[in-house]
Amino acid sequence: MRYYAAPMEGLTDLVWRQAHQRYFGGADRYYAPFLSPPENRVPVKKKMAELLPQANPGAPLIPQLLAKDGSCAAWMIGALRQMGYREVNLNLGCPSGTVTAKGKGAGMLRDLDALDRFLDTVFSEAGGPISVKTRIGVEKPEEFGPILEVYGRYPIAELIIHPRVMRQLYRGQADRAAFEAALPACKAPVCYNGDLASPGELAAAQARWPGLSGLMAGRGLIADPALFRKARGGPPASRQELQGYMNDLYAGYTAAFGSPQAAISRMKGFWSYTIGLFEGAGKLEKQLKKLRDPWEYEVVASQIFTLPLR
Ligand SMILES: Cc1cc2nc3c(=O)[nH]c(=O)nc-3n(C[C@H](O)[C@H](O)[C@H](O)COP(=O)(O)O)c2cc1C
Repeated sequence: MRYYAAPMEGLTDLVWRQAHQRYFGGADRYYAPFLSPPENRVPVKKKMAELLPQANPGAPLIPQLLAKDGSCAAWMIGALRQMGYREVNLNLGCPSGTVTAKGKGAGMLRDLDALDRFLDTVFSEAGGPISVKTRIGVEKPEEFGPILEVYGRYPIAELIIHPRVMRQLYRGQADRAAFEAALPACKAPVCYNGDLASPGELAAAQARWPGLSGLMAGRGLIADPALFRKARGGPPASRQELQGYMNDLYAGYTAAFGSPQAAISRMKGFWSYTIGLFEGAGKLEKQLKKLRDPWEYEVVASQIFTLPLR
């Protein structure tokens, strides 16, 4: 089974992807956080720099687009192909209010005629391979049947299904029963995504759905960067690895953002997941949330690394 690192805006960027591979590896593919094709069709240099192939050595990287205009998306796919990418992923799952209010992401699932026109334009103007990452509806899982009928009209290279509806955001559980019920109606190879946070959960998903093309993890992989390595029978993350990884992230973001203060806010995002690997981190976690100065960050982080690992 192939394991995919999920796209996560604000987390799984270039700095993280390289640090993750350097210390833990185990992902067969990395999906880049979404990119919105600019309406004026002038690529934003800083955003494109994230995707430069020479800056992304290692496991294959799949760029992802968050778009509503099919022609603009097809143009951007062409630009990405010129950079050397083959597969491009379409984001039809982002539930954030600012995105869905513009009819993008999971907001595309509200109007299936518009979705059909969008896909028709993208597939006829850009050609394949194009994969799709989708939620199973806006309000309720019963909407997924008609959505799959639309997807079935296009040669989607892979359908990554996160079985939550848009309204749910990240609440509750991923609806594995709805996912399973939908499988016979899926024409494209299917990847499952949602709440895979331990090697046991990855193994259970693999045993339950052996025909899938892949399993994708997001929050579980940030929480335990050795998740995929462990699922393949490898060792858990050691203290030295975690320390090297988090220090490399801090140094990488300090360089990328131009200041350690800006890097701290990004590091707090990582720590909010990864702190769970350390036993008895409650007090340090509270300090971490409040601190602002680089020296404070460095002191608290070094104290976290002395805690026992779970
Ligand atoms: C902070 C955050 C940022 C995310 N950014 C993206 C994104 O850019 N593109 C996307 O398709 N999904 C995005 N997602 C959704 C994840 O890729 C994934 O589908 C979701 O977290 C469920 O999988 P998980 O339970 O393994 O985390 C994001 C999720 C979170 C929590």
